[in-house]
Amino acid sequence: MSRIAYVNGRYVRHAEAGVSIDDRAFLFADGIYEVIEVFGGRLIDEDGHLERLARSARELRLDLPVAMTALRRILRELVARNRVAFGHVYLQVTRGAARRDHVFPKPGTPATLVAFAHRGDPAAAEAKARAGIKVISLPDIRWKRPDIKSTSLLPNVLAKQQARDAGAYEAWLVDEKGFVTEGASSNAWIVDGEGAVVTHPADSAILSGITRATLFRIAAAEGLKIVERPFTLAEAFIAREAFISGATTIVMPVVAIDGRKIGSGAPGRVALGLRAAFHDFAPASA
Ligand code: PDD
Repeated sequence: MSRIAYVNGRYVRHAEAGVSIDDRAFLFADGIYEVIEVFGGRLIDEDGHLERLARSARELRLDLPVAMTALRRILRELVARNRVAFGHVYLQVTRGAARRDHVFPKPGTPATLVAFAHRGDPAAAEAKARAGIKVISLPDIRWKRPDIKSTSLLPNVLAKQQARDAGAYEAWLVDEKGFVTEGASSNAWIVDGEGAVVTHPADSAILSGITRATLFRIAAAEGLKIVERPFTLAEAFIAREAFISGATTIVMPVVAIDGRKIGSGAPGRVALGLRAAFHDFAPASA
């Protein structure tokens, strides 16, 4: 069965799908995106992701080319056509294709909409969670608006590769004051000595994760205390637990940061508990 992608109104074979070399995302990374988990054939936290897409579009003065109802239909169609039970859908909107010029193209230039689906491997993800992941720390050299989910991800790409080269899965980005902002493609969390779950406030320094928001609801229901405040790397080193969250990882326990063991060096109870509870809480839409 061949993979099917969506490009500007058409469902096409993934391998043959393409956009213009004049596309502004290709030339300027002038685009926004979302990644939504598919679990048991359902879209997880779809509303949250689409609301954030609309916000990213507003912040960048980018007009979405289709209504939200149409977008929801496209995502379902991709899940069905690609027979994705567990995996992800990716969608990207760009400021369209136009002769290269930094200023916006003339009004009426249609935005580009591309979407595709990936099948995941739930057994491999669970094995990874049981083992825990390693993290390295790097300076956060991104622009000052990482709260916008833009396709401009070069610092994230470089950080993630540096992590991979060091035998780690994720890079935690540290701001000029020494606070951990977030991961290259996930939000960062620790459990402090008192058992409080700590994560950076959702200000302009981080992407306000949709998974993160669901974890807040789980914590509230389970009587776990979450504190939104910046934490330092030094605090992370002595934390009881650390973990990351995101649509592709859900909750992944962190067992080492910069080669230092976190807690006992095994995945923590809080992280594994949040992971186990996640799909009982996250809204799933068919
Ligand atoms: N990344 N922070 C960054 C920098 C991210 O790229 C992501 C997600 C998150 C977590 O957000 P959410 O919980 O809404 O997925 C935080 C996606 C999965 C990606 O780029 O692949």
